[in-house]
Amino acid sequence: MARIVVTGRIPHEAVALLRAEHDVWAWDESTPISRELLLQQVAGADALVTLLTEKADAELLDAAGTQLRVVANVAVGYNNIDVPACRERGVVATNTPGVLTDATADIAMALILMSTRRLAQGERVIREQQPWQWGMFFMLGTSIQGRRLGVVGMGQIGAALARRAKAFGMNIAYSNRNEIAPELADELGCVRLGLDELLATSDVVSLHCPYSPATHHLIGTAQLAAMRPDSFLINTARGPVVDEAALAHALRHGIIAGAGLDVFENEPTVHADLLDLDNAVLIPHLGSATIETRTAMAMLAAANALAVLRGDTAPTPIAG
Ligand code: DGY
Repeated sequence: MARIVVTGRIPHEAVALLRAEHDVWAWDESTPISRELLLQQVAGADALVTLLTEKADAELLDAAGTQLRVVANVAVGYNNIDVPACRERGVVATNTPGVLTDATADIAMALILMSTRRLAQGERVIREQQPWQWGMFFMLGTSIQGRRLGVVGMGQIGAALARRAKAFGMNIAYSNRNEIAPELADELGCVRLGLDELLATSDVVSLHCPYSPATHHLIGTAQLAAMRPDSFLINTARGPVVDEAALAHALRHGIIAGAGLDVFENEPTVHADLLDLDNAVLIPHLGSATIETRTAMAMLAAANALAVLRGDTAPTPIAG
Protein backbone atom coordinates (compact mmCIF):
# COMPACT_ATOMS: atom_id res chain seq x y z
CA MET A 1 0.00 0.00 0.00
CA ALA A 2 1.40 3.38 -1.00
CA ARG A 3 1.03 6.69 0.82
CA ILE A 4 -0.77 9.43 -1.10
CA VAL A 5 -0.92 13.04 0.06
CA VAL A 6 -3.70 15.21 -1.36
CA THR A 7 -2.67 18.82 -0.80
CA GLY A 8 -6.12 20.44 -0.92
CA ARG A 9 -9.85 19.71 -0.87
CA ILE A 10 -11.01 17.68 -3.86
CA PRO A 11 -14.36 15.95 -4.57
CA HIS A 12 -14.89 12.97 -2.26
CA GLU A 13 -15.37 10.54 -5.17
CA ALA A 14 -11.72 11.02 -6.10
CA VAL A 15 -10.51 10.60 -2.52
CA ALA A 16 -12.58 7.40 -2.30
CA LEU A 17 -10.98 6.09 -5.50
CA LEU A 18 -7.51 6.67 -4.03
CA ARG A 19 -8.49 5.20 -0.63
CA ALA A 20 -9.76 2.02 -2.25
CA GLU A 21 -6.15 1.13 -3.06
CA HIS A 22 -3.89 3.18 -0.81
CA ASP A 23 -3.33 5.03 2.42
CA VAL A 24 -4.45 8.64 1.82
CA TRP A 25 -3.83 11.80 3.81
CA ALA A 26 -5.91 14.69 2.47
CA TRP A 27 -6.04 18.32 3.56
CA ASP A 28 -9.73 18.97 4.07
CA GLU A 29 -10.05 22.67 4.89
CA SER A 30 -11.42 25.28 2.49
CA THR A 31 -8.33 27.49 2.95
CA PRO A 32 -5.00 26.32 1.48
CA ILE A 33 -2.66 24.26 3.64
CA SER A 34 0.29 26.15 5.14
CA ARG A 35 3.61 25.50 3.47
CA GLU A 36 5.10 24.38 6.78
CA LEU A 37 2.45 21.71 7.37
CA LEU A 38 2.62 20.60 3.75
CA LEU A 39 6.39 20.10 3.97
CA GLN A 40 5.85 17.93 7.04
CA GLN A 41 2.94 15.94 5.63
CA VAL A 42 4.56 14.99 2.33
CA ALA A 43 7.40 13.15 4.07
CA GLY A 44 7.33 9.53 2.90
CA ALA A 45 4.65 10.10 0.23
CA ASP A 46 4.72 7.93 -2.89
CA ALA A 47 2.25 10.21 -4.68
CA LEU A 48 1.14 13.80 -4.38
CA VAL A 49 -2.19 15.02 -5.70
CA THR A 50 -1.73 18.78 -5.92
CA LEU A 51 -3.88 21.85 -6.48
CA LEU A 52 -2.71 25.03 -8.18
CA THR A 53 -2.55 26.78 -4.80
CA GLU A 54 0.42 24.56 -3.79
CA LYS A 55 3.86 24.73 -5.35
CA ALA A 56 5.40 21.35 -6.11
CA ASP A 57 8.96 22.64 -6.34
CA ALA A 58 12.33 21.04 -5.61
CA GLU A 59 11.97 21.75 -1.89
CA LEU A 60 8.62 19.93 -1.70
CA LEU A 61 9.84 17.00 -3.81
CA ASP A 62 12.87 16.62 -1.56
CA ALA A 63 10.72 16.87 1.55
CA ALA A 64 8.64 13.97 0.17
CA GLY A 65 11.70 11.77 -0.33
CA THR A 66 13.23 9.55 -2.96
CA GLN A 67 10.29 7.08 -2.94
CA LEU A 68 8.03 9.75 -4.53
CA ARG A 69 6.82 8.52 -7.93
CA VAL A 70 4.12 10.87 -9.14
CA VAL A 71 2.81 14.42 -8.79
CA ALA A 72 -0.74 14.52 -10.15
CA ASN A 73 -1.94 18.10 -10.57
CA VAL A 74 -5.68 18.74 -10.45
CA ALA A 75 -5.51 21.39 -13.19
CA VAL A 76 -4.57 21.62 -16.82
CA GLY A 77 -2.20 24.52 -16.07
CA TYR A 78 0.90 23.29 -14.30
CA ASN A 79 2.94 26.40 -13.55
CA ASN A 80 2.80 25.36 -9.87
CA ILE A 81 4.81 22.21 -10.71
CA ASP A 82 8.54 22.30 -11.31
CA VAL A 83 8.43 19.77 -14.14
CA PRO A 84 12.23 19.65 -14.73
CA ALA A 85 12.76 19.05 -10.99
CA CYS A 86 10.26 16.17 -11.17
CA ARG A 87 12.05 14.73 -14.19
CA GLU A 88 15.48 14.98 -12.52
CA ARG A 89 14.10 12.93 -9.61
CA GLY A 90 12.35 10.37 -11.82
CA VAL A 91 8.93 11.62 -10.68
CA VAL A 92 6.10 11.54 -13.24
CA ALA A 93 4.16 14.83 -13.42
CA THR A 94 0.60 14.80 -14.76
CA ASN A 95 -2.17 17.34 -15.41
CA THR A 96 -5.86 17.22 -16.41
CA PRO A 97 -6.29 18.33 -20.03
CA GLY A 98 -9.57 17.84 -21.87
CA VAL A 99 -12.00 17.58 -18.98
CA LEU A 100 -12.18 21.34 -18.37
CA THR A 101 -12.12 22.50 -21.98
CA ASP A 102 -15.84 23.29 -22.30
CA ALA A 103 -16.21 24.86 -18.87
CA THR A 104 -13.28 27.21 -19.48
CA ALA A 105 -14.36 28.08 -23.01
CA ASP A 106 -17.84 28.87 -21.63
CA ILE A 107 -16.32 31.30 -19.14
CA ALA A 108 -14.18 32.95 -21.85
CA MET A 109 -17.29 33.40 -24.03
CA ALA A 110 -19.20 34.74 -21.03
CA LEU A 111 -16.42 37.27 -20.41
CA ILE A 112 -16.54 38.37 -24.05
CA LEU A 113 -20.27 39.01 -23.75
CA MET A 114 -19.98 40.60 -20.30
CA SER A 115 -17.26 42.96 -21.50
CA THR A 116 -18.67 43.95 -24.87
CA ARG A 117 -22.24 44.32 -23.55
CA ARG A 118 -21.28 45.93 -20.20
CA LEU A 119 -23.21 43.32 -18.22
CA ALA A 120 -21.35 43.57 -14.91
CA GLN A 121 -21.60 47.35 -15.05
CA GLY A 122 -25.32 47.09 -15.77
CA GLU A 123 -25.81 44.76 -12.84
CA ARG A 124 -24.05 47.24 -10.59
CA VAL A 125 -26.50 49.94 -11.70
CA ILE A 126 -29.38 47.82 -10.42
CA ARG A 127 -27.75 46.51 -7.23
CA GLU A 128 -26.45 49.91 -6.22
CA GLN A 129 -29.90 51.34 -6.92
CA GLN A 130 -28.51 53.95 -9.27
CA PRO A 131 -31.25 55.87 -11.13
CA TRP A 132 -31.78 54.50 -14.64
CA GLN A 133 -34.22 54.71 -17.50
CA TRP A 134 -34.38 52.87 -20.81
CA GLY A 135 -33.06 55.18 -23.49
CA MET A 136 -31.68 54.97 -27.03
CA PHE A 137 -28.24 55.77 -25.78
CA PHE A 138 -28.32 54.15 -22.34
CA MET A 139 -25.35 51.85 -21.64
CA LEU A 140 -24.60 51.00 -25.25
CA GLY A 141 -22.17 48.17 -25.82
CA THR A 142 -20.46 46.75 -28.87
CA SER A 143 -21.83 44.04 -31.18
CA ILE A 144 -19.53 41.10 -31.78
CA GLN A 145 -21.13 39.82 -35.00
CA GLY A 146 -18.76 40.13 -37.91
CA ARG A 147 -15.91 41.13 -35.56
CA ARG A 148 -12.57 39.37 -35.27
CA LEU A 149 -11.68 37.18 -32.29
CA GLY A 150 -7.91 36.77 -31.94
CA VAL A 151 -7.06 33.61 -30.03
CA VAL A 152 -3.58 33.57 -28.51
CA GLY A 153 -2.72 29.88 -28.05
CA MET A 154 -4.97 27.65 -30.17
CA GLY A 155 -5.00 24.54 -27.98
CA GLN A 156 -8.13 22.66 -26.91
CA ILE A 157 -9.60 25.56 -24.93
CA GLY A 158 -8.75 28.16 -27.60
CA ALA A 159 -10.44 26.00 -30.24
CA ALA A 160 -13.50 25.43 -28.05
CA LEU A 161 -13.83 29.19 -27.57
CA ALA A 162 -13.36 29.77 -31.31
CA ARG A 163 -16.26 27.38 -32.03
CA ARG A 164 -18.49 29.28 -29.63
CA ALA A 165 -17.45 32.66 -31.01
CA LYS A 166 -18.05 31.46 -34.56
CA ALA A 167 -21.58 30.47 -33.56
CA PHE A 168 -22.00 34.08 -32.35
CA GLY A 169 -20.95 35.33 -35.81
CA MET A 170 -17.32 36.23 -35.10
CA ASN A 171 -14.40 35.64 -37.46
CA ILE A 172 -11.42 33.83 -36.01
CA ALA A 173 -7.70 34.55 -36.15
CA TYR A 174 -5.09 32.85 -34.01
CA SER A 175 -1.46 33.02 -33.09
CA ASN A 176 0.28 29.85 -32.04
CA ARG A 177 3.76 28.36 -32.04
CA ASN A 178 2.60 25.73 -34.53
CA GLU A 179 0.12 25.71 -37.34
CA ILE A 180 -3.11 23.93 -36.28
CA ALA A 181 -4.43 20.83 -38.07
CA PRO A 182 -5.92 21.71 -41.50
CA GLU A 183 -9.28 20.13 -40.58
CA LEU A 184 -9.56 22.40 -37.53
CA ALA A 185 -8.50 25.44 -39.55
CA ASP A 186 -11.19 24.58 -42.12
CA GLU A 187 -13.84 24.01 -39.48
CA LEU A 188 -13.09 27.35 -37.82
CA GLY A 189 -12.35 29.16 -41.07
CA CYS A 190 -9.50 30.84 -39.24
CA VAL A 191 -6.28 32.58 -40.23
CA ARG A 192 -2.92 32.28 -38.47
CA LEU A 193 -1.20 35.57 -37.69
CA GLY A 194 1.89 36.70 -35.82
CA LEU A 195 1.08 38.09 -32.37
CA ASP A 196 1.69 41.71 -33.43
CA GLU A 197 -0.70 41.50 -36.36
CA LEU A 198 -3.27 39.62 -34.30
CA LEU A 199 -3.19 42.31 -31.60
CA ALA A 200 -3.46 45.13 -34.13
CA THR A 201 -6.38 43.65 -36.06
CA SER A 202 -8.58 41.86 -33.49
CA ASP A 203 -11.71 43.28 -31.89
CA VAL A 204 -11.41 40.81 -29.04
CA VAL A 205 -8.12 39.14 -28.00
CA SER A 206 -8.47 36.04 -25.81
CA LEU A 207 -5.49 34.45 -24.08
CA HIS A 208 -5.18 30.66 -23.93
CA CYS A 209 -1.43 30.06 -23.75
CA PRO A 210 0.23 28.25 -20.84
CA TYR A 211 2.14 30.36 -18.34
CA SER A 212 5.92 29.95 -18.38
CA PRO A 213 8.91 32.31 -18.27
CA ALA A 214 8.40 32.73 -22.04
CA THR A 215 4.84 34.01 -21.60
CA HIS A 216 5.43 36.14 -18.49
CA HIS A 217 3.88 39.56 -19.29
CA LEU A 218 3.32 38.48 -22.88
CA ILE A 219 0.77 41.28 -22.87
CA GLY A 220 2.35 44.46 -21.48
CA THR A 221 2.45 48.16 -22.29
CA ALA A 222 3.70 47.75 -25.87
CA GLN A 223 1.24 44.99 -26.77
CA LEU A 224 -1.71 46.91 -25.28
CA ALA A 225 -0.64 49.97 -27.27
CA ALA A 226 -0.64 47.81 -30.40
CA MET A 227 -4.30 46.86 -29.79
CA ARG A 228 -7.13 48.97 -31.14
CA PRO A 229 -8.78 51.52 -28.83
CA ASP A 230 -12.16 49.81 -29.38
CA SER A 231 -10.86 46.31 -28.63
CA PHE A 232 -11.20 44.01 -25.63
CA LEU A 233 -8.77 41.68 -23.84
CA ILE A 234 -9.94 38.43 -22.22
CA ASN A 235 -7.75 36.33 -19.92
CA THR A 236 -8.78 32.88 -18.68
CA ALA A 237 -5.23 31.45 -18.91
CA ARG A 238 -2.96 32.58 -16.08
CA GLY A 239 -2.73 36.03 -14.51
CA PRO A 240 0.98 36.73 -15.01
CA VAL A 241 0.60 36.38 -18.79
CA VAL A 242 -0.69 39.98 -18.51
CA ASP A 243 1.10 42.89 -16.86
CA GLU A 244 -1.83 43.94 -14.65
CA ALA A 245 -0.49 47.42 -13.89
CA ALA A 246 -0.06 48.10 -17.62
CA LEU A 247 -3.55 46.76 -18.29
CA ALA A 248 -5.12 48.98 -15.64
CA HIS A 249 -3.35 51.97 -17.19
CA ALA A 250 -4.54 51.00 -20.68
CA LEU A 251 -8.14 50.61 -19.50
CA ARG A 252 -8.13 53.88 -17.60
CA HIS A 253 -6.68 55.85 -20.50
CA GLY A 254 -8.79 54.38 -23.32
CA ILE A 255 -5.87 52.56 -24.94
CA ILE A 256 -8.21 49.56 -25.16
CA ALA A 257 -11.99 49.52 -24.57
CA GLY A 258 -12.34 46.81 -21.96
CA ALA A 259 -11.10 43.60 -20.39
CA GLY A 260 -12.59 40.45 -18.91
CA LEU A 261 -10.34 38.70 -16.41
CA ASP A 262 -10.81 35.34 -14.69
CA VAL A 263 -7.20 35.11 -13.52
CA PHE A 264 -4.83 37.53 -11.80
CA GLU A 265 -1.12 38.02 -11.30
CA ASN A 266 -1.14 37.52 -7.53
CA GLU A 267 -4.28 35.56 -6.74
CA PRO A 268 -6.32 36.08 -4.67
CA THR A 269 -5.14 39.70 -4.67
CA VAL A 270 -6.31 41.83 -7.58
CA HIS A 271 -4.33 44.92 -8.61
CA ALA A 272 -5.94 47.85 -6.79
CA ASP A 273 -5.98 49.96 -9.98
CA LEU A 274 -8.36 47.51 -11.65
CA LEU A 275 -10.97 47.59 -8.91
CA ASP A 276 -12.64 50.91 -9.73
CA LEU A 277 -12.64 50.50 -13.50
CA ASP A 278 -16.09 50.02 -15.01
CA ASN A 279 -14.55 48.65 -18.20
CA ALA A 280 -12.88 45.74 -16.36
CA VAL A 281 -14.96 42.62 -15.69
CA LEU A 282 -13.31 40.74 -12.81
CA ILE A 283 -14.29 37.23 -11.73
CA PRO A 284 -12.46 34.97 -9.24
CA HIS A 285 -10.78 32.16 -11.27
CA LEU A 286 -14.00 30.33 -12.14
CA GLY A 287 -12.89 28.82 -15.47
CA SER A 288 -13.31 25.20 -14.42
CA ALA A 289 -15.73 25.84 -11.57
CA THR A 290 -18.64 23.49 -12.25
CA ILE A 291 -19.42 20.46 -10.09
CA GLU A 292 -19.12 18.18 -13.10
CA THR A 293 -15.82 19.64 -14.28
CA ARG A 294 -14.12 19.73 -10.88
CA THR A 295 -15.22 16.12 -10.27
CA ALA A 296 -13.84 15.05 -13.65
CA MET A 297 -10.55 16.88 -12.97
CA ALA A 298 -10.12 15.21 -9.58
CA MET A 299 -11.03 11.77 -10.97
CA LEU A 300 -8.50 12.17 -13.78
CA ALA A 301 -5.79 13.27 -11.34
CA ALA A 302 -6.59 10.25 -9.14
CA ALA A 303 -6.44 7.96 -12.19
CA ASN A 304 -3.03 9.43 -13.06
CA ALA A 305 -1.67 8.83 -9.55
CA LEU A 306 -3.07 5.30 -9.36
CA ALA A 307 -1.72 4.35 -12.80
CA VAL A 308 1.83 5.39 -11.91
CA LEU A 309 1.66 3.64 -8.54
CA ARG A 310 0.57 0.46 -10.35
CA GLY A 311 3.50 0.75 -12.74
CA ASP A 312 1.30 1.75 -15.69
CA THR A 313 1.59 4.77 -17.97
CA ALA A 314 -0.31 7.78 -16.65
CA PRO A 315 -3.35 8.69 -18.80
CA THR A 316 -2.30 12.35 -19.10
CA PRO A 317 1.38 12.92 -18.33
CA ILE A 318 2.77 16.44 -18.84
CA ALA A 319 4.52 16.29 -22.19
CA GLY A 320 7.85 17.79 -23.11
C1 DGY B 1 -6.59 24.91 -14.71
O1 DGY B 1 -6.96 23.74 -14.72
O2 DGY B 1 -5.47 25.24 -15.06
C2 DGY B 1 -7.57 25.92 -14.24
O3 DGY B 1 -7.04 27.18 -14.18
C3 DGY B 1 -8.15 25.51 -12.91
O4 DGY B 1 -9.32 26.21 -12.73
